[in-house]
Formats: sequence, C-alpha cells, structure tokens
Amino acid sequence: MKTDHEQGRGVIERYREFLPISDSTPVVSLGEGNTPLVYSAKLSARVGRGCKVFVKNEGVNPTGSFKDRGMTVAVSKALEHKSRALICASTGNTSASAAAYAARAATPCVVILPAGKIASGKLVQAFACGAKIVPIKGNFDDALRMVRELGQRNDFAIVNSINPDRIAGQKTAAFEIVDALGDAPDFHLLPLGNAGNMTAYWAGYREYHARKRSTKLPAMIGFQAAGAAPIFHNRIVEKPETVASAIRIGNPASWKHAQAAITESRGAIDVVTDEEILEAQTWLARHEGIFVEPASAATIAGFFKCCDSKKAAYSFRKIPEESRIVCTVTGHGLKDPDVIMHRMKKLKPVPATVNDVQRAIGL
Ligand code: F0G
Repeated sequence: MKTDHEQGRGVIERYREFLPISDSTPVVSLGEGNTPLVYSAKLSARVGRGCKVFVKNEGVNPTGSFKDRGMTVAVSKALEHKSRALICASTGNTSASAAAYAARAATPCVVILPAGKIASGKLVQAFACGAKIVPIKGNFDDALRMVRELGQRNDFAIVNSINPDRIAGQKTAAFEIVDALGDAPDFHLLPLGNAGNMTAYWAGYREYHARKRSTKLPAMIGFQAAGAAPIFHNRIVEKPETVASAIRIGNPASWKHAQAAITESRGAIDVVTDEEILEAQTWLARHEGIFVEPASAATIAGFFKCCDSKKAAYSFRKIPEESRIVCTVTGHGLKDPDVIMHRMKKLKPVPATVNDVQRAIGL
C-alpha cells in the first residue's frame, strides 16, 4: 500500500515495478497521473439497468492531457541514454507535454507541427516552455514521417508514441482504473488518433490481469472523427478533416496494435461526426462540469451513440446489468477554446446598475 504522499509523486514512483525504470534512470516527473475517476449518475441513467459510468479525467494532468504519463517515462529514458535532444511530431498535446518535460530535464526539444492546425492553447504551451517549434506545410502524418528520419539522423530521442517508453507510461491509466474500481471495468471507451493510447490501455489491462490484479478484461471501444477515420474504414485517409484537431490523423502509427486490442477484447471501432463531438463537449461541461477538448468529447459522443443509435458499432441496449463503463477524456477544454469563444461573442456589457444587472440575470 502506498502512502498519499507517494501517490502524489507521479506515475514512475507509483508504478515503478511495471515500468522500464532502473536505479540509474534519472526520473523526470511533474507529478502526473492519479487523475480523477468521476462517477456520473447522469451518464449511468442513460444506459440504465444498474450500469455505472465513470469519466477518467486525464485533462487534469500537469500539461492538461494524458500525454504526460508517457512523457515522464520517455524523457527519463532519453536522459538515461544521454540523447542530445527530444523530437516529436504532434497535433498539439504531445508537443506541449514534450516541451514541459524537456524544460524540466534541461534538454532541448524540437516539435514538428502541421502549420496553422494546432489549437491555440497547445501551441502557447510549447512556446512558453521553450521548445524549438517547426511548423510544416503538411499534416500530422507528414510531420511524423519527418520525425522518424530526423530522429535517426541526429541521435534525437523520438518521444512520439512509436517510442515504447511512451506506451509503458500511458498504460498506468489502466492500472489506476483497476486500482480504483477493485477490478477492470466491462467496457472502456476512448478516442483514437495515432492509436497509441488504445494500445497502452490494452497493454495495461492485460498486464494487471496477468498479475491477478483483475479478474477480467474490458471490451475496448474506440472512436474516430468521421472525417479522419482510417481504422474504421480500413484505409489511409489522405486529407483527414475534423474539428477535433488532436485526432486529425489519416495514417495512425499504432494502427495494427489498436486493431488487435479491439479484436482481442471483442470491442469495436466507430465514428462520430463533428456535430456530435461539439454537442457532447457542451453536454459534459454543462451537466458534469467537466470541460474537455473536442477530441476528448469524441468519447462521450461515442458513448451516446452506443446508448441511442441503431447504427452504433456496439450497442449498449443489451449489455449485462450492472456493467461498469469507463470513458476516458484525454485533454482539457482550455487547450482549444476557439469554437466556444466564438459562441461567447453574444455576451454584451450592461450598465453598472443593480436594476440593469438584475434584468440581465433574468432569473
Ligand atoms: N485525445 C487527445 C486530446 C489527443 O491529443 C490525442 C492525440 C488523442 C486523443 C488520441 O490519442 O493518438 O494515442 O490515439 N494526440 C497526439 C498529439 C497525436 O500529437 O498530441 P492517440
């Protein structure tokens, strides 16, 4: 049993025995992990029949996304191997996380980004933490191709999820869920972009199961945006498009692993439209107070589809009573405020009198 103090110190200290860490690994941590698993009575009511739904809120990690779990391990290992610098391609969150952990480790960090396609909050984070930002005239898939080559040529440590240390760190999210629930859930829902996170969760659930920390494995259900759904359609998407810029990816690096996780777990892959994503984002903020970025809202949109739609790849209508369902939301809403800011334009100042303010309140 760990003390509260130890639990607050990041995923390497908490799950060291499951990670590729030795006494000679210099640990670079920002206190990531240990994120809230929030029970939602409203989402549970949507499924009915005594099922319980939990939201794993990864947006409250140090840089506001789940990437920090993998980054603490990847950056610690890069330091151990004395890499000259870190490099990654990113739709935003990986670059924000890499920049922060690189700053803490006093290591240079290069981030290759699709120009004009990164949510403002994420770009600001990478810039603030002093990363060398290189925007390219291409998409994420082009950026990752470049990183693979540059990583080899320059002895840079690649900190994308093609680095197994990233996956190792990210699997701790599955450990936390099993530790909190006392067993694995029956269903696990999450968004798919480069598909590293699905790969990591499945590795984590399998490892805990093998070590008898859980009695079962969840069905893994992944959601892609309708305009960026290569795994769903089983073909590369040359020009992926979606409002959920974090998962605007046409050729996922961990495609095969994620597909294997879905097949082995008897799960499913489905798509959600941009409209459904934005509706779910608003729903979660207004009904549960959890404000997430659009890519994360894909999970919630997908959950609604499983509950309501005859077209769902996985229907929740006949799942066993008292099933437990975990929905991972991956990134904080403040990272990508632009769509919501646009809606706020109708806020107009009123004169500073009690009567005017009372009228404006309207309650
Ligand atoms: N949600 C968010 C908020 C993300 O930033 C990402 C991926 C995903 C979901 C999908 O996770 O790639 O493991 O399937 N973002 C990467 C990045 C690609 O560069 O920040 P995945």
